Amino acid sequence: MLSAEANQRITKVGPGTPAGDLLRRYWMPVAPKAEVDEVRVRPVRLLGEDLVVYKDDRGRYGLLAEQCPHRSASLAYGRIDDDGIRCPYHGWKYDVTGRCLEQPAEPAGSTYKDTIKHTAYPVQEAGGLLFAYMGPLPAPLIPPFDVLARPDWERRIEIHPILDCNWVQPMENSVDPAHLYWLHGYTGGAPNQQPDDENRYEEFDFGIYKSHVNEDEIETHPLVFPNILRGPGHVAHFRIPVDDTHTRIMYILYNPTPDGTPTGQENVPYQYIGPIKTEHDDFGYPRYQHRMDTFAGQDGMAWETQGPVADREREHLSVSDTGVIMFRKMLDQQITVAAEGGDPLGVIRTPRDVINFKVQREDRHNGQIIPWRGQAERSFAKSVRVPVA
Ligand code: FES
Ligand SMILES: [Fe+2]
Repeated sequence: MLSAEANQRITKVGPGTPAGDLLRRYWMPVAPKAEVDEVRVRPVRLLGEDLVVYKDDRGRYGLLAEQCPHRSASLAYGRIDDDGIRCPYHGWKYDVTGRCLEQPAEPAGSTYKDTIKHTAYPVQEAGGLLFAYMGPLPAPLIPPFDVLARPDWERRIEIHPILDCNWVQPMENSVDPAHLYWLHGYTGGAPNQQPDDENRYEEFDFGIYKSHVNEDEIETHPLVFPNILRGPGHVAHFRIPVDDTHTRIMYILYNPTPDGTPTGQENVPYQYIGPIKTEHDDFGYPRYQHRMDTFAGQDGMAWETQGPVADREREHLSVSDTGVIMFRKMLDQQITVAAEGGDPLGVIRTPRDVINFKVQREDRHNGQIIPWRGQAERSFAKSVRVPVA
């Protein structure tokens, strides 16, 4: 159980909040690069801030506050120029650093534009995603996680529907293997877990390793702090805080080349995944009915029905919540580190080699590594922007 105050400390994501300031120390995914290349400008809501991401004609990516500093029209309808984006209302133009380059209706020779500094955040590409850094400068490096940096992995991106719940709920679930049998196996019809399987947790440099041990196998993969679930299998889930009560999940899925040769992949395709729920339930009530025939639907049901922000004063934690408690403690400690001006867990500032995580299934009896089931076969060649039902 957490007091209301302790709960707010770990869940609120806006600027100036404890967890909001911690999350701003990490690069956050914004959108697939391929999508911004195509649409050139789109709105993004991230950490409670309304923003637009765009690409100028020189190929630079920018992330600006959505509302124009002149009189607040939305830059999401802006026009892309050679060196910036123009507000659709009176044509003021901003570059990727937030400088105002032009104010077309001002008198010739006016220097008023030089006094305008629009909110702008650095953007960088990794693994086919554009990432933004919204914290204090200088920005750290994007860590070369395997899923972002391995040259011998062919990638694709899945964009899942925005969840109506706070980001901590899916992250707690990342270290909650007790749900595997009940939610996915028993409730949801994916019968490969047992209710009495043993679970182990271990902290490491980038988060928490979780091992799920059954009669025959040990399955290990990490929660990468603060908001990535890496694995199981050939995937990483980025749980991106949209605001206090909404979370966007993006997956990077990958196929390794059989012999470790680089793929040479230049464009990472992306796909929007269809809704996990309907607006009315099966009995006509105006409340969501969740799809229970996919893992994402089953998890989404569990996280959203906990409430927009789970009320942790009402909960009754048990032994099976060991990983959840470990994650909350880590979050609380790292909030303090960031608040005191330090670099929290996993923030890096010197270049390093690819960070390969342990994501494996192991035969418990002979220690042999077992391949993941069916993960590598899914593939698609083309980006799809229209949600697939
Ligand atoms: S509101 Fe943007 S230029 Fe006037
Ligand atoms: Fe799950």
